[in-house]
Amino acid sequence: MCGIIGYTGPRKAAPILIEGLKRLEYRGYDSAGIGVGCDGALTICKKVGKIKDLREAVPDDLDGCYGIGHTRWATHGGVTDVNAHPHTDTTGNLAIAHNGIIENYLILKARLEAEGITFRTETDSEVIAHLIAQHYEGDLEAAVRKALPLLKGTYGIVCLHKGNPQLIIGARSGSPLVVGVGEDEMFLASDVTAVLAHTKQVVYLEDGEVVVLTEKDFHITDLNERKISKTIDEISWELEEIEKGDFKHYMVKEIYEQPEAIERACRGRLDPTQATARLGGLNLSPAQLLDVERIRIIAAGTSYYAGLVGSYLIEQLARIPCQAELASEVRYRNPIVERNTLHFAVSQSGETADTLYAMRELQRKGSCVLGICNVVGSTIARESNGGVYIHSGPEIAVASTKAFSSQVTAFYLFCLLMARKRHMSYETGEWFLQELTVIPEAVKAVLKTEPVIKKLAKKYAGYKDFLFLGRGINYPVALEGALKLKEIAYIHAEGYSAAEIKHGPIALINEETPSMFLVPDDRLREKVISNMKEVKARRGKLIAVVGEGDDEIREIADDVIEVPRVHTLFSPFVMVVPLQLFAYHCAVLLGRDVDQPRNLAKSVTVE
Ligand code: F6R
Repeated sequence: MCGIIGYTGPRKAAPILIEGLKRLEYRGYDSAGIGVGCDGALTICKKVGKIKDLREAVPDDLDGCYGIGHTRWATHGGVTDVNAHPHTDTTGNLAIAHNGIIENYLILKARLEAEGITFRTETDSEVIAHLIAQHYEGDLEAAVRKALPLLKGTYGIVCLHKGNPQLIIGARSGSPLVVGVGEDEMFLASDVTAVLAHTKQVVYLEDGEVVVLTEKDFHITDLNERKISKTIDEISWELEEIEKGDFKHYMVKEIYEQPEAIERACRGRLDPTQATARLGGLNLSPAQLLDVERIRIIAAGTSYYAGLVGSYLIEQLARIPCQAELASEVRYRNPIVERNTLHFAVSQSGETADTLYAMRELQRKGSCVLGICNVVGSTIARESNGGVYIHSGPEIAVASTKAFSSQVTAFYLFCLLMARKRHMSYETGEWFLQELTVIPEAVKAVLKTEPVIKKLAKKYAGYKDFLFLGRGINYPVALEGALKLKEIAYIHAEGYSAAEIKHGPIALINEETPSMFLVPDDRLREKVISNMKEVKARRGKLIAVVGEGDDEIREIADDVIEVPRVHTLFSPFVMVVPLQLFAYHCAVLLGRDVDQPRNLAKSVTVE
């Protein structure tokens, strides 16, 4: 969602801020702006649209070596230049940019208006500028400290004042901020991608912390002004990883990175001598792992579907009751926490509000929640009681692809570990490792079918409605295929268990509603074939994703996509890729903004 960047140093701030905002584009936004301080003046430029529109609105001769920038994803107030950040106080001396939601802004606004302040925007964020200005007596840090306790809700704030040259103040409560420590220059950003081109040295802020940046230094304190010493972390990501390279879109680049992502998730974690997996970050003793009687997985969107795949696998192979649930639902239904239940919070970004708040609620009730995250240092990664980093590398496209495969891999490793602690034999453990090790090559082979999928996209991109149907461990993959088509091609799609269509969705079937069936060679195959025939009898077009050389399905379906034959339990890895590529090519053909689909944000930090 919204992104923040701040800079203070010897260089001209405006180009650095704009470049930082460009790197934050992937989070999703509808307008952007910067505020730059120079020689006792403060210049604000803000614009609806893309960063290139903002760039055009910023004067080339805008000097000033400290400033703040923001990409806005509208929540309170329409998408207008005025509502874009930064926001200033009535004098125009002070500017703030804000991520999050100020829940008590209406009360604060009414009070400030009663005191004679005229508001210029419809945003919740503008109150912050006025509150800080009210407390400003020459010391910006002191003014921020006095304003913060008045705010209820979530915030990542960055702020500057023209009377305090080269000074940037940041504060965090529920919305991430990271300090980038450069050579005689400092950065503040909502995520590391915005600063990676300048420095790999970062310090993550915690909730309740305030940071003061000057050109050469920074210091962090809590709300009671107690100094907090922090370690500087080194970002492991490389700059090339956040660039598109030769690919047309980040999404297709990331689809192609999946074989490598699966390998990275496995690296150093396979133990062939014991035929098991090693997951040191779980922070659980062998005895604690043995005591686990139930597993609950919480997540949102694609991460939830990865969790659903995990739940099928864990129940089947580790024989531990396992349920995947939407984090947003878990949080508000007063979840029952039983002894010996292990929880997983799955999140690529590690910042998804629904997942984070559900995790906190479960922790409050005494449960151990492990994180499965990609972004190192993210809030879920830090606040969880342990977990597994998936090490996918940065995922920039809004539509998640490689993170799905890596999250699923993490569950496969965890499943093997738990199963081997229970009843799984050494030989079966060896078989499992063998199957897992060939997956990256199998995914590479699926990627080679891209020309076939592109052709199918041409044939089907004009349809308005789609069904995605799978069973067992591929039921979540069907849900994921439907989500991908919806979110990037804007084609209405529903994912169902193939068995469910006769309980309702079959009413939708006619020649205008194609169905994509996932048909691995498993014990449910005959039943799925019957479902396909039911669809065909109603003139529904059939596309099937099948194992290589499956002539029987070729006879029934209008079109087939062949994937390498792997054991059914491992088939989600190969079944999901054609669905990602199909959605991608439909979106390209329809002229969609593939990497930044409308209305969507990469990291959903509000409920
Ligand atoms: C879909 C997608 C979203 C995310 C969801 C959770 O392509 O990207 O559905 O999966 O918003 O995000 P994370 O994994 O960051 O918690």
